[in-house]
Amino acid sequence: MKRIGVITSGGDAPGMNACLKTVVEMSHNYGYECLAFRRAYKGVIANDYFNITKADVAPIFNNGGSLIYSARCKEFFDPKYQEIGANNLKALGLRALVVIGGNGSYLGAECLANLGVNVICIPATIDNDVHSTTEAIGFDSAVNNATDMLDNIKQTMQANERISIIECMGRHGGNIALYSGMASQADIVAVPEDPLDKEHIYRFIRDQLNYGNASPTVVVAEKQYDVYALAKEIERDFGHECRAVILGYMQRGGRPTVKDRMLAIRYGVAAIELIDAGEQNLAIGLDNDLIVTTPINRAVKMQTNFRQDLYEAFKQLNNPRNKVK
Ligand code: F6P
Repeated sequence: MKRIGVITSGGDAPGMNACLKTVVEMSHNYGYECLAFRRAYKGVIANDYFNITKADVAPIFNNGGSLIYSARCKEFFDPKYQEIGANNLKALGLRALVVIGGNGSYLGAECLANLGVNVICIPATIDNDVHSTTEAIGFDSAVNNATDMLDNIKQTMQANERISIIECMGRHGGNIALYSGMASQADIVAVPEDPLDKEHIYRFIRDQLNYGNASPTVVVAEKQYDVYALAKEIERDFGHECRAVILGYMQRGGRPTVKDRMLAIRYGVAAIELIDAGEQNLAIGLDNDLIVTTPINRAVKMQTNFRQDLYEAFKQLNNPRNKVK
């Protein structure tokens, strides 16, 4: 019997289930048995898998989260556990392991590839920080979730003439903050790709207030500031009310958008076609809306897919000094 394995790995992303369903259905259509490992690399180490059927995945397509659980696995940084995992997979005679996850999951996949396990990787992370693709599954859903929340926050801040500092997820990248900040017409976006110190943020807020905006919205990517402390300082220094909000996990849950569902289907179909064609150790991605592949050992070294062009456009649009008062 031909067999493949599948994991969903790292922080979950809306659309992971849709991709899992596609992989399971496609693998069965191609005559493969599909083994799903629970909790990603943890399940690979513990040999915790089950034979996943079309019936198992029938109801999950439009659900957030992951039927087979997603997890981060610190042990997998240890070569001892990598070897245990690789041996488990080899003993099962898998044609390939499909890894649905983000850049941390790709590093684990590269280790398995180096130990002789064939891996086919599908980008799924709300952060959109897998650099071998322009689009990861889950990013669009997270941006839509964040944008809805930013729209709501902006309305109440405008009514009360308050400054707001709103933190988005993104791990070490600013993609969610940039896209949702642009889509919700935030006034300032602070991303790690162009770190802004407190003086910069103060200058931007001062400009907005001077030019008649009594409720400037500052959207920041996580891990840069203590937004609660910053809001208190701003309130004190400007003598203007300021509130901080951390959007948190509400960005990561919920039903995948149509865009993410389509992406999940396209990547899932491509994965099984590649495996059946005998392809080895690839990261699947999108470039100019076309499916592309990159060798996994190259994919993990690629540097950034941050949309600098959009960031520049945002800054141009939102510079109050460009506006006639
Ligand atoms: O990678 C996805 C992500 O949601 C990041 O945006 C965030 O930094 C991180 O996961 C949170 O991780 P955890 O779920 O382990 O708290």
